[in-house]
Amino acid sequence: MEEDYGYRRTAKIALVAIMVLASVAVFALLVVFAYYCYILNKVSNRRKSLKKVEDANLNEKSDFANLQVVAEKGLQVFTFKQLHSATGGFSKSNVIGHGGFGLVYRGVLNDGRKVAIKFMDQAGKQGEEEFKVEVELLTRLHSPYLLALLGYCSDSNHKLLVYEFMANGGLQEHLYPVSIDFLVDSIITPVKLDWETRLRIALEAAKGLEYLHEHVSPPVIHRDFKSSNILLGKKFHAKVSDFGLAKLGPDRAGGHVSTRVLGTQGYVAPEYALTGHLTTKSDVYSYGVVLLELLTGRVPVDMKRPPGEGVLVSWALPLLTDREKVVKIMDPSLEGQYSMKEVVQVAAIAAMCVQPEADYRPLMADVVQSLVPLVKTQRSPSKVGSCSSFNSPKLSPGPTF
Ligand SMILES: Nc1ncnc2c1ncn2[C@@H]1O[C@H](COP(=O)(O)OP(=O)(O)OP(=O)(O)O)[C@@H](O)[C@H]1O
Ligand SMILES: [Mg+2]
Repeated sequence: MEEDYGYRRTAKIALVAIMVLASVAVFALLVVFAYYCYILNKVSNRRKSLKKVEDANLNEKSDFANLQVVAEKGLQVFTFKQLHSATGGFSKSNVIGHGGFGLVYRGVLNDGRKVAIKFMDQAGKQGEEEFKVEVELLTRLHSPYLLALLGYCSDSNHKLLVYEFMANGGLQEHLYPVSIDFLVDSIITPVKLDWETRLRIALEAAKGLEYLHEHVSPPVIHRDFKSSNILLGKKFHAKVSDFGLAKLGPDRAGGHVSTRVLGTQGYVAPEYALTGHLTTKSDVYSYGVVLLELLTGRVPVDMKRPPGEGVLVSWALPLLTDREKVVKIMDPSLEGQYSMKEVVQVAAIAAMCVQPEADYRPLMADVVQSLVPLVKTQRSPSKVGSCSSFNSPKLSPGPTF
């Protein structure tokens, strides 16, 4: 009996011991699990805060920092001394132009590269802003149809931009006489551009704008597209220049950027001039004006012309879609050397681009598509034209390049 009682007591104690051990094991497991959850939570919080820091860093950079581009190229930073020696001490004989930014000099770098150097003469916020936009944009964008920025100099007293040199200057100088600044002895001999060269320039400039509007995200609106901002290389290949006024456009979802109206008289789209609403279609309008300059050889605004002919768009638009009348607007210096079929097609594109209603204007990709079949790939550069009949500005020999 007593033995039975002893046995039961031992069994009870063993059971209690097992239960205590099991509880301790469960408790230990719970502690380990809680610790695991705590660590997991800590890691995820750390990741989140790291991401916040990254996002904040991104947001701190300019608008242009978020631009998606194919690749980034480095820009060379020049000292003022280097550019001073490249231009022969910024000598007057090396001045090749004078624009809104300041004087433009030609120069030769130490490594022998020919360059064009823009020297900012505008003190103040607008000039500084243009300098910054030009550098930031051109660091990120590159296309064979955009003028390449090679570098810059920015010290407390001087702001200079260094570009590839375009031997034949601005398109405008070859279309009509341009009044040359008293500071500038033009080194460019104006050339009468033949029809084929005009078509190729139209296509290459269209490709430059197409790149800005369609191949970059968000799109870039040039805002100052005009014939003096289409520069011509040795063989009259065209590149679009001057991004100082550029704006990042709306994304593909639509909308517009509301902004202060900037640009050049005669090229500004009516809706932008009236309301300040800017879209890529504003550039399409300016492109249409350049097409009209190529067709007619006329300045966009010239109030010395007979009544009704002062504003190029208003004069030409009613004549562009009439096959009989379009011949009347053609540049007399072409001397009828063009295919009427091609003229009609280009005139139709120009008419669509300068539509007062922005939505009816084509995309630059459509313009490129329409021009491609008109441009013959092979041509001899000697066929570009001959020396112009209009009064060519005084030529200065300048240093040899
Ligand atoms: N990279 C370059 N290569 C050769 N010539 C150039 C170059 N850049 C500018 N030029 C010359 O300098 C001239 C003035 O250019 P700039 O861009 O300063 O003024 P703009 O185009 O006339 O006016 P805006 O300041 O409104 O753009 C051009 O018309 C061209 O002849
Ligand atoms: Mg310019």
